[in-house]
Amino acid sequence: MLTNEQERLIDATAPVVAEHLDAITQRFYPLMFERYPEVAPLFNQAHQVDGAQPKALAGAVLAYVQLRRDPAEARRVLATVVSKHVSLDIRPEQYPIVGECLMAAIGEVLGDAVTPEIADAWSALYEELAGLLIELEAHRYHEFAQREGGWHSMRTFRIAATHQESSVIRSFVLVPEDGGPVADFSPGQYIGVRLTIDGEPVYRHYSLSASPNGRSYRLSIKREAEGRVSRHFHDVLGVGDTLSLLPPAGDLTLAEGDEPLMLASGGVGQTPMLPLATQALEQGRHVVYLHAALDREHHAFAEELAALVAAYPQQLKSVTLYENAVDETPVDHVGRLDRELIARYLPAGEPRCYFVGPQGFMAAVDSALESLGVAEDHRHFEHFGPSRSLHAA
Ligand SMILES: Cc1cc2nc3c(=O)[nH]c(=O)nc-3n(C[C@H](O)[C@H](O)[C@H](O)COP(=O)(O)OP(=O)(O)OC[C@H]3O[C@@H](n4cnc5c(N)ncnc54)[C@H](O)[C@@H]3O)c2cc1C
Ligand code: HEM
Repeated sequence: MLTNEQERLIDATAPVVAEHLDAITQRFYPLMFERYPEVAPLFNQAHQVDGAQPKALAGAVLAYVQLRRDPAEARRVLATVVSKHVSLDIRPEQYPIVGECLMAAIGEVLGDAVTPEIADAWSALYEELAGLLIELEAHRYHEFAQREGGWHSMRTFRIAATHQESSVIRSFVLVPEDGGPVADFSPGQYIGVRLTIDGEPVYRHYSLSASPNGRSYRLSIKREAEGRVSRHFHDVLGVGDTLSLLPPAGDLTLAEGDEPLMLASGGVGQTPMLPLATQALEQGRHVVYLHAALDREHHAFAEELAALVAAYPQQLKSVTLYENAVDETPVDHVGRLDRELIARYLPAGEPRCYFVGPQGFMAAVDSALESLGVAEDHRHFEHFGPSRSLHAA
């Protein structure tokens, strides 16, 4: 609980902290990795390079200055952070580490301006936010462990099968080593993966690309030319190899209701769309499935989607675009997904729209949907990396 004086000090100093947010975040991570090297593997080093993730963490602390005045809204906004944390098994005992290093970074950057009273006020704010996140995360850990086929922390899975979905995307079907059941997840969610590469632990997130079935999970991974983990999956791992999974999480899940859906994906962004489409179709909803691939070689899951269309011919409309195609390539459209195409296929009747793909793809789809009158709360998207604004300069 912050005192009135602490609240006043935070309000008075928040603009200065905001002004120096970049410098604070640039100092915070190196400091933390130096003092507590054991937490470094949790952070994707590629996300450190472009600065989006560092800013997200410190930015969330700053945003909490306003958010804490509306506890229900705070819980809603923090759901994305909670999901990322849960899928990495972030523990309560790690919060003091982040708190200590964040305060040290603020102290270093702002120097003498940080009086002991100001430092205490920001520490109290951090502790309040940490307490809220710890509570929300504990609830999710507990709920998942209680489910049939759920677990605490990590569980070892074995690769039972692989399937090449396109020239760059391969699926991996994972079954638990212990032979037990596998908990259901909400279609659209992702899972945390922990591997050991060159003797070091590494963590990544992957969307669950097949519907829940009680026995296995499927990941579908694009090989990134310079990617550490995706190349390991493609070039090193195969049937019989094991890895650890953390709890599934994520908020790109089907909103209740009977509105029609538009699911739009670019490249590997298709992975959460397959279980989302299946779930919606099983509920009797109408789905327009727009997928943009580079070309035929890069087009994944074509057969799987064709089978879904055959099973639900009245409910599912599939539209595929290739950015590059020669004349005789059988495809619905050539080029990029633009406003005109979206307008052509957008279902009538307050559709809900889900879209995942590269940043530029999502920004274009979002702008088109907005201009076509789709309300913000009907536009659902997810970044395959740190969350960020779609339309930032
Ligand atoms: C919610 C969510 C769901 C996801 N679902 C999927 C999915 O279904 N399928 C999928 O394939 N991926 C998915 N991802 C992405 C996935 O988590 C990985 O980010 C992806 O596999 C790349 O990891 P990597 O280790 O291969 O690449 P990284 O080693 O992390 O590198 C990523 C990119 O950054 C560049 N890079 C790395 N280090 C540096 C450096 N020091 N300097 C400059 N550039 C650098 C690399 O060249 C590479 O292009 C998802 C991510 C999230 C957050
Ligand atoms: C009050 C404290 C914290 C806040 C406000 C916070 C906030 C955030 C935010 C905003 C994100 C980005 C979410 C997204 O991309 O969608 C994030 C991701 C993450 N957080 Fe936290 N966090 C806190 C504490 C912690 C702690 C204690 C740890 C453990 C050491 C931790 C580890 C991580 C990791 C590993 C990621 C993902 C990083 C990546 O993408 O590489 N966080 N956090």
